[in-house]
Amino acid sequence: MAVRTIAVLGAGQMGSGIAQVAAVSGYDVILRDIEDRFVSGGLSKIETRLQRSVEKKSLSAEEAKAARARIHGTLQLSEAAEADLVIEAVPEDPALKKSVFRELDPLARPETIFASNTSSISIAELAGTTKRPDRFVGLHFFNPVPVMKLVEVVRGPATSEATMRTALEVCATLGKTPVEVHDAPGFVSNRVLMPMINEAILALQEGVATKEAIDAVMKLGANHPMGPLELADFIGLDTCLSILEVLQKGFRSEKYAPAKLLREMVAQGRLGKKSGHGFYEYA
Ligand code: 3HC
Repeated sequence: MAVRTIAVLGAGQMGSGIAQVAAVSGYDVILRDIEDRFVSGGLSKIETRLQRSVEKKSLSAEEAKAARARIHGTLQLSEAAEADLVIEAVPEDPALKKSVFRELDPLARPETIFASNTSSISIAELAGTTKRPDRFVGLHFFNPVPVMKLVEVVRGPATSEATMRTALEVCATLGKTPVEVHDAPGFVSNRVLMPMINEAILALQEGVATKEAIDAVMKLGANHPMGPLELADFIGLDTCLSILEVLQKGFRSEKYAPAKLLREMVAQGRLGKKSGHGFYEYA
């Protein structure tokens, strides 16, 4: 199927990043969120990043202007439903994601492909809320979306070959490297990444080392671009907690039980970079 218009549901850090990359790659983009301030916040982040790309000369001023003009912000789910491909990027809450797909399904054309940018939730479970499980796939982007090359393309048990083909083609036109994985809690990325982050939080909680020392060990000792605590702040501590809960429930294993300190920080609204406070403070 030829994809010309991509709708992105959720204008947060992932959604706005996906919308930007899609528009720069020539797609018409509908960016939908539930409140005006979220839509305008997402659009203004995109404008800032496009402007930075012009300053760095990775885009011409005309290309940046054309990309911005291809993005239409809206509050209406019915407008997003008109796209050929809808990528859901709302917060990592299974009930919320399911309710969005349940509402979207009857509004969209039968051939429209649905994708979820979920970090960990079962694609089968999400697809099961729609009448199109064969046209449902996981497209898991990484933050910051304009920089990170990977998209984990998650094949659900009912995802058709045609849907997989379209998903892989779209990723390639976005300049990304798609890697196909099967549907399992946390897929590959977060099944490996989140236990490391959780273990770093446990080490901090137990006083094994300071946050700076823990991050320095992994940056200098494992060549990671960010230490695990800095990365947790960057991803969002609420997102890390949600993913660990999905892993713990999905594998029925206490191995993934979120650290007490992580739970406490999320309860206090210390969500990392996006809230200005996490393991570190942000201006
Ligand atoms: N949006 C767009 N571009 C960005 C950006 C953003 N938010 N942040 C940084 N960049 C660009 C910069 O403009 C710069 O581009 P240039 O090389 O063309 O000038 C480049 O990235 C490098 O940026 P900086 O020099 O400012 O900073 P760093 O060299 O420290 O790199 C980083 C920043 C790319 C974020 C790097 O620290 C990094 O790779 N961190 C790890 C990121 C990571 O692991 N992401 C995956 C998280 S897990 C996930 O998303 C899955 C989810 O399910 C949890």
